[in-house]
Amino acid sequence: MNPILELRDVSAAYGKITVLRGVNVSVMPGQIVALLGPNGAGKTTTLRVACGAHPVSSGQLLLGGRDMTGVSPRDLARIGVCLVPEGRGVFPNLTVRENLVMMTFTGRSIEEIEDIAYTRFPILGKRVSQTAGTMSGGEQQMLALARGLATDPAVLMLDELSMGLAPRIVAELYEHVAEAARRGSRCWSSNSSPRRCFTPPITPRCSSAAKSRSKAHRTNSATSSRPSI
Ligand SMILES: Nc1ncnc2c1ncn2[C@@H]1O[C@H](COP(=O)(O)OP(=O)(O)OP(=O)(O)O)[C@@H](O)[C@H]1O
Ligand SMILES: [Mg+2]
Repeated sequence: MNPILELRDVSAAYGKITVLRGVNVSVMPGQIVALLGPNGAGKTTTLRVACGAHPVSSGQLLLGGRDMTGVSPRDLARIGVCLVPEGRGVFPNLTVRENLVMMTFTGRSIEEIEDIAYTRFPILGKRVSQTAGTMSGGEQQMLALARGLATDPAVLMLDELSMGLAPRIVAELYEHVAEAARRGSRCWSSNSSPRRCFTPPITPRCSSAAKSRSKAHRTNSATSSRPSI
């Protein structure tokens, strides 16, 4: 069986500074994988590469065994790659409902998306017209997760889902992640704190970003191909 998502010998850089070197990660169908590492190790960059938001300098991104290196984040999103970014991926000046409306790009109706979101997170149903930026940190993260789950993603990537949240909220959020994995999504979560990743009921397979180095390093220019999907 092919991994649903695979990074094969990936390197990536910001300008001439290489921050990922020879990263190999694979996520099998049904798996929850935790990406662990200290601050600056390259976890966010790895997730951004995996959703097409940051180019690889060398190496490959494969989805279901198909080479997707160089495919745009928009096209990867359309085929079910979803990143909930670090720092709450919501539009703070839009209401809860307007944030959910943005997810209709998937082809799902707003009624269906709202039904899924408010069933999973009843508190959001009571905040429909509230501006997202005025909600608590936990509520904002619930909205961010609801937006991701509403797309019924094939691969769900969560960057620092638990950051700054109370343990009770973190446990609730991870319960939804476990449920998403049970329903068939493949989850990949980054976290600086291993303890936060092991909140029951999740027992993830772990990958370490600790070997990534951020030392200054000159790179060759990127030469990725752009396959059609
Ligand atoms: N836009 C950028 N421009 C230049 N360097 C960057 C940029 N974003 C990240 N970096 C550098 O790349 C390295 C990896 O950063 P990254 O954000 O991927 O780490 P991280 O493991 O997610 O860290 P944290 O745990 O603090 O979120 C760091 O040295 C960082 O300074
Ligand atoms: Mg990060």
